[in-house]
Amino acid sequence: MLQAQRRSRYFTSVSQGIARISIIMTLTPADIEEIAAQALAAIAAAIDLDALKEVRISHVGDRSAIAKANQALGSMEVSARAEFGKVIGKARGAINAAFESRQSALESERDARVLVEERVDVSIPAQRVPRGGLHPLTILTNEICDLFLGLGYRVAEGPELEAEWLNFDALNIPADHPARTMQDTFFIEPLDSHLVLRTHTSPVQMRTMLEEKPPIYVICPGRTYRADELDATHTPVFSQVEGLVIDKGITMADLKGTLDHFARSIFGPEVKTRLRPSFFPFTEPSAEVDFYFNGRWVEWGGCGMVNPKVLRAAGIDPDMYSGFAFGMGLERTLMVRHGITDMHDIVEGDIRFTQNFGSGIR
Ligand code: PHE
Repeated sequence: MLQAQRRSRYFTSVSQGIARISIIMTLTPADIEEIAAQALAAIAAAIDLDALKEVRISHVGDRSAIAKANQALGSMEVSARAEFGKVIGKARGAINAAFESRQSALESERDARVLVEERVDVSIPAQRVPRGGLHPLTILTNEICDLFLGLGYRVAEGPELEAEWLNFDALNIPADHPARTMQDTFFIEPLDSHLVLRTHTSPVQMRTMLEEKPPIYVICPGRTYRADELDATHTPVFSQVEGLVIDKGITMADLKGTLDHFARSIFGPEVKTRLRPSFFPFTEPSAEVDFYFNGRWVEWGGCGMVNPKVLRAAGIDPDMYSGFAFGMGLERTLMVRHGITDMHDIVEGDIRFTQNFGSGIR
């Protein structure tokens, strides 16, 4: 093992020696001049930094002819070494200087070009991209939620695809109630799934009462569905907001006061409300709420004291607690407040309509 290593080292040095000798033997000062001339010509001909990099490898770097000639100096006879070393040193100096100056010339050419090509005119007016905005119904919904949050209510939500039981039965709407007929309600197939597209937000009342113990103060905005044709005043998909309060000692005066406050913040401080006797299976007594706006009474929604039957169905003792509920359509609210005469404008989503509501479109 030791023997083999020694032998290979011996062969290596002999073969290197032969190579060196062959370079030294053949090089003359004229050859060095020729090598230098070729290198200088290649440097001058490099048209860009990439080309110059190639030139560096073949004419300037460690593997170039001039570098190899320099390395070979070490094995020359001492007397010749000084003379020949001068020739090589001069040639190398010239090559390196030419390379450096070509490099810096090409770099400043590139920098100048980049300045022109990548120029950005910061004075050009920017193109304004519309940021999009909220639909007026969403703005109104947020406004109402903010108002009630300020009164200590919580926002409650429920599914649009609702159990028939929660949409009707639990709210004391019996099976033969006209609201259940096929014309009004979108039933979901298969019919024995007993699912409907909720016809009002009132099922959220029942969901909340089943999930929470009183006192309950919730506001529930949401989308609702009825089998109506889209026309100037109707839409099969519409929005309601439902309010529900269950607490000790709640009376109709609380309902009236809440509706007054609600109406004033939506329509302005001058607005008045009135209650007209009405009927809803889930409230007793029930009323229609109207508001007086721009010289006329406008029907706004339904309301009443939560029917004890409904409280009982939700496991709340009607002898201890009472409550009120109200519900109104948001499209109608928006139409009256802004003098919108055609429902199509609200549902079609045309940005030219939406833009007029301060909806954040710029
Ligand atoms: N849910 C009723 C409707 O859609 C409105 C209403 C809500 C009435 C709450 C009374 C109490 O017509």
